[in-house]
Amino acid sequence: MPDAPYPNLFQDLVLRNLRIPNRTVMAPMSTNLGSHEGFVTPEQIAFYRERAAGGTGMIIVEFCCVEGATGRSEHRQLTLESPAQVAGHQRLVEAITSAGAVACLQLQHGGRGAKRDLLSDGMPIAPSDVATRSGRLMARAMDDAEIERLIEAFGRAAELGVQAGYQAVELHGAHGYLLTSFLSPYSNQRTDRWGGDEERRLNFPRRVIQRVRQSIGDRPLIFRLSADEFTPEGLSIEDMERIAPKLEAAGVDALHVSIGLGWTSFDKVVEPMSTPEGWRLPYSRRIRAVTGIPVISVGQIRWPETAERAIRDGDADMIALGRPLLADPEWANKARRGERDCIRPCTSCNYCVAVSSAADGAIGCAENPRTGHELDSLPDAGSRRGQRAVVIGGGPGGMAAALMLQQAGFTTELHESRSILGGGLIASAAPPFKDKLTWYLDYLHRQLEKSAVEVHLDSRVDLAGLIQGEAPAIVMLATGGQPIRMPIAGVDGPAVRDAYDLLMGDSPRLPVEIGEWPVLVYGGGETGCETAELLSEQGHEVVLVSRSPVEQLARSAEMIYRGVLKRRLLENPRIHIQDNASIERIDHDGRVLLRHQDGGSSELQTSAVLIAQGRRPDESLLRSLLEANLPVTVIGDARRGGRIGDAVHDAYRAVHSLCSSAAPLRPLAC
Ligand SMILES: Cc1cc2nc3c(=O)[nH]c(=O)nc-3n(C[C@H](O)[C@H](O)[C@H](O)COP(=O)(O)OP(=O)(O)OC[C@H]3O[C@@H](n4cnc5c(N)ncnc54)[C@H](O)[C@@H]3O)c2cc1C
Ligand SMILES: Cc1cc2nc3c(=O)[nH]c(=O)nc-3n(C[C@H](O)[C@H](O)[C@H](O)COP(=O)(O)O)c2cc1C
Ligand code: SF4
Repeated sequence: MPDAPYPNLFQDLVLRNLRIPNRTVMAPMSTNLGSHEGFVTPEQIAFYRERAAGGTGMIIVEFCCVEGATGRSEHRQLTLESPAQVAGHQRLVEAITSAGAVACLQLQHGGRGAKRDLLSDGMPIAPSDVATRSGRLMARAMDDAEIERLIEAFGRAAELGVQAGYQAVELHGAHGYLLTSFLSPYSNQRTDRWGGDEERRLNFPRRVIQRVRQSIGDRPLIFRLSADEFTPEGLSIEDMERIAPKLEAAGVDALHVSIGLGWTSFDKVVEPMSTPEGWRLPYSRRIRAVTGIPVISVGQIRWPETAERAIRDGDADMIALGRPLLADPEWANKARRGERDCIRPCTSCNYCVAVSSAADGAIGCAENPRTGHELDSLPDAGSRRGQRAVVIGGGPGGMAAALMLQQAGFTTELHESRSILGGGLIASAAPPFKDKLTWYLDYLHRQLEKSAVEVHLDSRVDLAGLIQGEAPAIVMLATGGQPIRMPIAGVDGPAVRDAYDLLMGDSPRLPVEIGEWPVLVYGGGETGCETAELLSEQGHEVVLVSRSPVEQLARSAEMIYRGVLKRRLLENPRIHIQDNASIERIDHDGRVLLRHQDGGSSELQTSAVLIAQGRRPDESLLRSLLEANLPVTVIGDARRGGRIGDAVHDAYRAVHSLCSSAAPLRPLAC
């Protein structure tokens, strides 16, 4: 038996009196898979069962609201207020524990972060009034009786949690919800016994801890905190180094060290991909140094070697994984078996956040289309096993489709016109701070190498090529988009290039000297903004010209990443943004005539012009395949401009529907 690859990570730990089989924890993540009434659903049970069966030591079930009428923060958030809700939680606990993990429940009240349209009187409650600049009340201060009622609600929910069988309870004291908002001087401006100084700001969390302790007896109680709120007047790490021992003294058994505040520093709570791996570990280390209880670290820990090092070096006692377990529920088992390279790696693209916060959305993952759909059967070709499936296009959609078709039992070919696989995933990963996307590309490569999919590179497929030999039973068209051609005078001149080609590495650097004249990037979308950043990193002065106002830069990019990207662009001294303008003419020598929205015009000498006006599907191949009566399905950007996750999800749905048409129909018994 070879040495265990991560010996510290896979050691057990006793929390109070509860043995946790290893040091991996699933971080609480709201799934929006609950019912609209706050009950546990079968989809949710299946979601957690997979993560528990994946070898995770302890599962912290997503935030569960203790008083729905005043505190719900998501449209399908769990609540735990009535005995009728216990049975669902019992089934959830059973699913987690029978798979070998410890079941812990996170209790929360949204406070000022509750969603107005979900509340009985539409007005969130908070320690102090929260008003907009114009004086509109956004949350109202709680009175003494309400505070006492809420303390009781936490205790009551914990009692119900114990009845359901939870082995541990976590209090959500992070990210600005009700518990933190009492703790933080940013949100607590009271001057009575619940606020005014640190000791009085601690009174509400202390009373909640005491009340929950009465409910849970000797079970472990964890407190989740934000080690730094990254907010002027908010809590800093120095404040939390003072507060953490006080929480320990109040009776908690472990501290779960998160970071950030929902409304002011959300890019710290669920960081975008530009944030480095393991950056939060110094924070958990500092909290651990001032307390004597186990500390859980969380956030941007993606690989087992980072987790192992953190435990070994004393940064934390346990490692919570959030998004990595959305991407790969088997993370812990794969790490324990030494199959690190088989882990489907979370790139922090935050597609999961986008889809779960969409109107009536639920949890999902760009790379793992089963996330949130764990009750789906695995696609099986059934009576169509062995039939020929052809995938055209080796971007993320095509690669994922080929892997799924092969796994379902089709004999699968993947054709890519370029000499390398990756498609838009290569362009997406090229700009600064986006290299984590190469993790996913490398993963798909490895999966294809292990599979029986026949990969054909330098293989541009057309109708004639496709109908040679055995007729395909399935054709999956995953050819992405084509650049939008702009009717600009001089656009075909020698100084003009397509930004996409640069990002694809067709010409990784511009064939112009850095220096005399700036490079002009035309397009304020994600591609234009990222191209500008890449060029500035290479040393070019850049003029970024956008037809829209500056506020709309990178409009289609993921929201959290977009905020960070826009900040960087505006602060970059090498990038000059010219908004509300369009190009009218480009001369051979790179001179550009700009037309401004106010009716004026200006001329600019540039060394090169990069066009980033987007891409759209080209339907010519699709039409010819349909005319030839081939069974074709279109996925990803070939269908409509979208994201990597959209392409992968299209692939999943397409393979599923192909397989369901091959499955035998059975009558229902009732
Ligand atoms: C600069 C930039 C940054 C981006 N950043 C992000 C991001 O951060 N996150 C995100 O989610 N999305 C991002 N996107 C979008 C993302 O890249 C696309 O949504 C995604 O790549 C679409 O995947 P796809 O498989 O549908 O198509 P593509 O990735 O475009 O792949 C299509 C493939 O088909 C091949 N092909 C075309 N015609 C043929 C043919 N006839 N025969 C054989 N092969 C053919 C092409 O060469 C290509 O490799 C970004 C896009 C750009 C341009
Ligand atoms: C979709 C989603 C939902 C989340 N819901 C919760 C939640 O219910 N309670 C909580 O304390 N944190 C929540 N978080 C934050 C995570 O627990 C975790 O702290 C964060 O994602 C950083 O860890 P990671 O980099 O491992 O994902 C959520 C994060 C995501 C991505
Ligand atoms: S959607 Fe992106 S950030 Fe979210 S879990 Fe999947 S890979 Fe990670």
